[in-house]
This record gives sequence, C-alpha cells and structure tokens, in this order.
Amino acid sequence: MKVNVCIGSSCHLKGSYNVIQAFQQLIEENSLHDKVDFKATFCAKQCQNKGVTVSIDGEKYNVLPEEAREFFKSKVIPNI
Ligand code: FES
Repeated sequence: MKVNVCIGSSCHLKGSYNVIQAFQQLIEENSLHDKVDFKATFCAKQCQNKGVTVSIDGEKYNVLPEEAREFFKSKVIPNI
C-alpha cells in the first residue's frame, strides 16, 4: 500500500511533520514496514483544502495532525 504525505509549504504549515510522525509511529508499532510504502511528496495541488494532503494508493485525503492516528487506523491498517 502506498501512503504519501505532502510536505509542500502549505501542508508543512498545516502540520505535515506531525502527520508523518504519527504515521511512522503506527508503522513501527504495528510492524508494517514491509506492507506500507511510505513517502513524503511535494505539493499535491490540494493546498486549498483544510488539513494535510495524504494520498493512499492514489486516493487523496485531507488530514489534520490531531486526527492522523485515527485516520491511519481506520483507512490504512484495515486495508492492508
Ligand atoms: S502543499 Fe500540500 S497540497 Fe500543496
């Protein structure tokens, strides 16, 4: 499963660093290194949306840093 988090300047200001931290922690906790292809990407052209742009297998979502753990648990883990 491909998980990309935008680290363009707009998403950076909205907390992409915290989203990345939360995802990495969950990958660690659940030993998902082999299953999740996790990358940071540059501006995904969704800056106008609220939250950080995250794409999962090409599908785009907007994630607030405080929702990052929940998001990963509901959208990534069950679909692996
Ligand atoms: S900076 Fe993330 S979508 Fe533009």
